[in-house]
Amino acid sequence: MHLARFHAQPAVFVAPGRVNLIGEHTDYAEGFVMPVAINFATLAGISPRTDGKIVIYSENYGEEKTFDAASLPAKASKHWSDYPLGVVAVVTGEGHKIPGFSLSLWGDVPLGSGLSSSAALEVATMLAVESLIGVSYPGPVLARLCQRVENEFVGANCGIMDQFISANGKKDHALLLDCRDLSFRLAPIPANVALVIANTMVKHSVAGGDYPTRRRESEAACAVIASHRPGVSFLRDATLEDLKKWGSEMTPKSLMRARHVISEDLRTVAASEALLKGDMKEVGRLMAEAHTSYSKDFEGSCVEADTMVELAQDLPGLIGARLTGGGFGGCTINLVEQSQAESFAKALGERYAAKTGIVPEIHICHASDGAHRLD
Ligand code: GLA
Repeated sequence: MHLARFHAQPAVFVAPGRVNLIGEHTDYAEGFVMPVAINFATLAGISPRTDGKIVIYSENYGEEKTFDAASLPAKASKHWSDYPLGVVAVVTGEGHKIPGFSLSLWGDVPLGSGLSSSAALEVATMLAVESLIGVSYPGPVLARLCQRVENEFVGANCGIMDQFISANGKKDHALLLDCRDLSFRLAPIPANVALVIANTMVKHSVAGGDYPTRRRESEAACAVIASHRPGVSFLRDATLEDLKKWGSEMTPKSLMRARHVISEDLRTVAASEALLKGDMKEVGRLMAEAHTSYSKDFEGSCVEADTMVELAQDLPGLIGARLTGGGFGGCTINLVEQSQAESFAKALGERYAAKTGIVPEIHICHASDGAHRLD
């Protein structure tokens, strides 16, 4: 499509979406997350231009936008082009001059469903722009730059998880990330375990009101602890003991949010250790606990997601189920015995439709490699 439209052979890059197995709303508290890159992705094809224009075509939106490379919009405009323009803005801020180019975008990560379609778009575009200017950022640096696209240009106050896993994921593995120093370790997902992703069809948004509110509430709890223990800069540094001591100085909501974040860090590290040992029963148990904490203490779920998790409980093959991603809608992740995955997906879909009147999309996914160039 790029060749036909722009009459130039593109260099093509792919970046995956993600599903998070456990560790929700811990990344911006410098804690732990354990996501997996999935086989839904964004493709970005790029070729240079000589007319000083930046022309971006989105196959999904069927729309082409043209900009002058020398005078790009300084602000986001709530349009899909904010993401590629944000990449250009951040790379320019790093001291690079970006010449004109043609960029074609296509993706199959379901939009607004908590599977990080925007991170996939940023990471694919970042690799494309890198190749154009002859730079190559290491994976963790690339992820930070893409997070800055969200934080500084798009205006979504997200953490590092989505961009990191899209850039650094590994086929057949989950990645335990320490969001403080960006060190990570990979844990294999056993071949007999399927990732069944169930879309509640309730749209989720990180830029929307609830995500930043929760973030502020949990950070307010951290400030209370820090006033007693100055070494605590993020909830990553706090303990459940701290909440016992100083929880009464917090608003009830802040206390609940902090209890989720602090306990989620413990569960996430424990789940990665269980996964490394192949103890899937323990992984499933921790996922169930994580969902309850996300739903009750963090109040980050919604009726539909709680229903989807509930309806999975007694289906044959289930190892663990929870709401994944930023919350308030989106998808649940179900770890399911591979041999039961098809029948599990079918039964869950039918149950959910019967109970809610909404027909869900259910995908059997596998852990995929992070972003790279396609030949
Ligand atoms: C969204 C954000 C991430 C992370 C999750 C919640 O996906 O983009 O940075 O905060 O929500 O775990």
